[in-house]
Amino acid sequence: MRAQLPLLLNATDDHVATAVSLRENGSAPRVEMRTGDAFDLIKAVPASSIDLIITSPPYWGLRTYSGDHNWQILRDWAAESDDREAAPPYSWYKAHGGQLGLEPLPDWFVAHLVEFFMLARTVVKPQGSIWVNIGDTYFARWSSIRDRGRQGLGGNPRERRRVPMGGYRQEKQLLMIPARFAIAMQEQRWILRNDLIWHKPNVPPRPEKDRLRLAHEHFFHFVHRPKQGRAKYYYDLTQVETGAKDVATCYVRAGQDNHSATFPEQLIRPRILSSCPSGGTVLDPFAGTGRALAVAARNRRNAVGFEISKDFASNARKQVARELDDL
Ligand SMILES: C[S@@+](CC[C@H](N)C(=O)[O-])C[C@H]1O[C@@H](n2cnc3c(N)ncnc32)[C@H](O)[C@@H]1O
Repeated sequence: MRAQLPLLLNATDDHVATAVSLRENGSAPRVEMRTGDAFDLIKAVPASSIDLIITSPPYWGLRTYSGDHNWQILRDWAAESDDREAAPPYSWYKAHGGQLGLEPLPDWFVAHLVEFFMLARTVVKPQGSIWVNIGDTYFARWSSIRDRGRQGLGGNPRERRRVPMGGYRQEKQLLMIPARFAIAMQEQRWILRNDLIWHKPNVPPRPEKDRLRLAHEHFFHFVHRPKQGRAKYYYDLTQVETGAKDVATCYVRAGQDNHSATFPEQLIRPRILSSCPSGGTVLDPFAGTGRALAVAARNRRNAVGFEISKDFASNARKQVARELDDL
């Protein structure tokens, strides 16, 4: 017999929320996937209701996920602002056709991510955690952005765009976007507890003959900075990888449902088990295939996901339901 699970948030016509049903066993976790912009949906989440945010936002300048983007947005901002390098608020950016991850300048992207986590601050319990997975990229004056593909690789259609040079934005420069993001978060009162390196043994070959291949991404663990004293938060060290080291080796798996950036379960399960108590609630605001939701629910945590793409959200609901049915 199946149980329709209660919703954590109210469904509206615009933001269709679907509760995934689980076999009734008295303590079934609640799982919900909402369609919409994470910057809007986060505002409807009750304060102090989330134990763990675990997420992988779009990376800067790598790929389009869905929808149209205003490729002239830097020019539009320059017409309104004295300093085009200073990032506009996300609300302005979105209202002018900007997509998260396609900001014309990396500093805009970092500013928008930090803005999102400022909105998320009140929903994370005082003892809660945030784990953010983010990868780096190289600067190229002319960069190609693949439709749902990797930069410079694959046969998918692509956009060519000219990114203005200046300051650290120089040809061949590794942009250090994860570090810029982590430092900006520290400056907004988050305490950084770990910079977990995700080592990817199976990255594809690259044509460059003058550098090593990027074979890692960062997974940052942030907690609240208390008004007084040292940070105190939920953490179960018995649930992490053997040796409790800050490097995790996990193979990149082919994406599913046309999604090219799926979380490996091996990478996120120890984070979920160690940073969210059993029966607690996990939020992935950039949920993609919903992998984090499925892993959380399978491990008896409630899960909420946001996803801007209707197709991804709908596939994620089906995928999570299938995975939970297989239990
Ligand atoms: C790197 S992928 C996440 C993949 C996910 N970790 C998984 O395992 O499938 C980022 C996702 O964020 C979504 N996204 C981009 N901008 C968004 C926004 N403003 N609000 C919500 N989702 C967004 C994209 O459509 C994409 O599915």
